[in-house]
Amino acid sequence: MHANPQDVTISPGVHAIFMVYGLNKSEYADNAVKNLCGEFAAIVRSMRKRYPDSNPSAVFGFGAKAWDRLFPDEPRPKELETFQEIKGAKHTAVSTEGDLFFHVRAQNMDVAYELAAIISSKLDGAVYHIDEVHGFRYFDGRTIIGFVDGTENPENDDAVSFGVIGDEDEYFRGGSYAFVQKYLHDMKAWNELALIEQEKVIGRRRYTDEELGEDIKPANAHNAVTNIADENGNELKIIRANMPFANPSKGEFGTYFIGYASTFSTTKRMLENMFKGEPEGNYDRLLDFSKPVTGTLFFVPSWELLEKLAE
Ligand code: HEM
Repeated sequence: MHANPQDVTISPGVHAIFMVYGLNKSEYADNAVKNLCGEFAAIVRSMRKRYPDSNPSAVFGFGAKAWDRLFPDEPRPKELETFQEIKGAKHTAVSTEGDLFFHVRAQNMDVAYELAAIISSKLDGAVYHIDEVHGFRYFDGRTIIGFVDGTENPENDDAVSFGVIGDEDEYFRGGSYAFVQKYLHDMKAWNELALIEQEKVIGRRRYTDEELGEDIKPANAHNAVTNIADENGNELKIIRANMPFANPSKGEFGTYFIGYASTFSTTKRMLENMFKGEPEGNYDRLLDFSKPVTGTLFFVPSWELLEKLAE
């Protein structure tokens, strides 16, 4: 029924602002959010007209509880649920609260800020802050731990089929499941690892981004455990738009992970492989240096559905 996706298949960008809000319990709050649903496309469009060279974009998503409360007469997207923590023997993918989610991107920080500030002002008095992260492109698209990120992301038609709901959930066509996790890295321990050991953690060469050969890539390398296939052997992918962030004076160095997918079950399988391991115990070695402090699932409606939700 609905079709045009929000900007979930585009590149991670240069500056990103991730905002997670809780929804106040009031009729005023519900109305403010619905008004924003109606205005959101125009807000983004206006920013694009004002700053065409900065290519601003914004994505608006909803948590399961907020969806049920705001839109009791709408069906619920098939895979929208409150994320249940995934506990491995050593590491846990925590579940944290979140009702509304915004992913703002632009080539310039002032433009990203302006768009985030407009969105925030529309929700004044309706929401409370849960989390906000400002991410930046680091050199040639590297994570803060130094490796190029996003190389194996699907592109073109693949990006749409892996990232955006199609005919399999007709009513929610054009929508996407956004899963976010804020990771903090143990930079001291990471920097003490020899280069070849770091490369074995990620499964790629650090400088050239070449994939390690199967003869030297360990089974617990990050790109080994997240490489999954369906029952027919076809690779399953998600669209990752991760961004590094850092507050060096606080000793805080992180990755804001965001995965857009047409089915949350794909992302969930990757997480299970990372945290529990497949076979069990073969957990992702990257987790020995990276701790998730948030974990929340959101549904991102198509532009058409977002507008309908205002009614
Ligand atoms: C600390 C957080 C994370 C960091 C720093 C990180 C970094 C990276 C890097 C450097 C690569 C290799 C280049 C590439 O293909 O993009 C990669 C690949 C990948 N990551 Fe992550 N990642 C993180 C979390 C996650 C999570 C939570 C998931 C899934 C839920 C995930 C899924 C993937 C996938 C699917 C690939 C491609 C694997 C393949 O080669 O087929 N990553 N990641």
